[in-house]
Amino acid sequence: VTAAATAMGLVLAAGSAMAACEDGEIVIKFSHVTNTDKHPKGIAASLLQERVNDEMNGTACMEVYPNSTLYNDDQVLEAMLQGDVQMAAPSLSKFEKFTKKFRIFDLPFMFKNMDAVEAFQSSETGQDMLTSMERRGLLGLGFWHNGLKQFSANKPLILPSDAAGLKFRVQPSDVLVAQMEALDASPQPMAFSEVYGALQTGVVDGQENTWSNIYGQKFFEVQDGITETNHGLLDYMVVTSVDWWDGLPEDVRAQLKTIVEEVTVTRNQAIAQVDADNRQAVLDAGGVIRELTPEQRAAWVEAMKPVWIQFEGDVGAEAIDAAQQINA
Ligand code: LMR
Repeated sequence: VTAAATAMGLVLAAGSAMAACEDGEIVIKFSHVTNTDKHPKGIAASLLQERVNDEMNGTACMEVYPNSTLYNDDQVLEAMLQGDVQMAAPSLSKFEKFTKKFRIFDLPFMFKNMDAVEAFQSSETGQDMLTSMERRGLLGLGFWHNGLKQFSANKPLILPSDAAGLKFRVQPSDVLVAQMEALDASPQPMAFSEVYGALQTGVVDGQENTWSNIYGQKFFEVQDGITETNHGLLDYMVVTSVDWWDGLPEDVRAQLKTIVEEVTVTRNQAIAQVDADNRQAVLDAGGVIRELTPEQRAAWVEAMKPVWIQFEGDVGAEAIDAAQQINA
């Protein structure tokens, strides 16, 4: 990519920074579903694109397609196996068809904060997960953080009983379905890009997501308020296809791997600030945030914790123990 082409691409794509690739460059399409400038994943993908196009100019070229413009998360992994896209970072909840091990990340109240998540992902158990789907054609290059999830609905949610009978959008994950059933609510799996409309038209009453997704998709506009439950995790795995990765020239693969790892460290270190900025942005835009007393929060823990037992067989008791030791 020449500097002029990059500048023109920037202007044309009005901030989505689509780079024009030149003949002979290895094209790396990165597809994702969020915004590019305020969202932890969007910022990380943009930085990755910038570094690849700068440092690997003439060899490789990355094109980032944000905001579900190329694929949504239900399609992207199949598209990757077909060779139509080379990188993505779907949430860990979206690997259900490929592994049951990731279910640990969806279990409610499994990690007390993002430091615990970082420690678990860096442990041997966590790192082994990156290569756990190789036989299915997918390779993890790293974990990218987003944050802990909050509940929102079209009425105040203070106690778990407030969620009973309501319809909640969930990501397509059996654990999240079970979590909502534990609250006597009705889970509705749905693509991310459809959630705002579904909340607005009343197809669903509520949802669970992180501050950056609640702000980025403006869910707060069409909800009564957001309850700060921090009840679950939403994180990502940067994923590529084993076939494509193995087919890269060795020096190209090594350079790309280093860049991905450095971007991962840099952006994961910034996660607390990005999360806090998005929470504040919800307030600044007029969104209502409700905090829980310790007793109220304990009631949510009690209602949802039985879900662990349901999925212990899938994720392994050792993995749960390892995560809990980190929390201690
Ligand atoms: C969701 O579907 O709610 C999230 O996985 C979207 C995302 O990528 O953060």
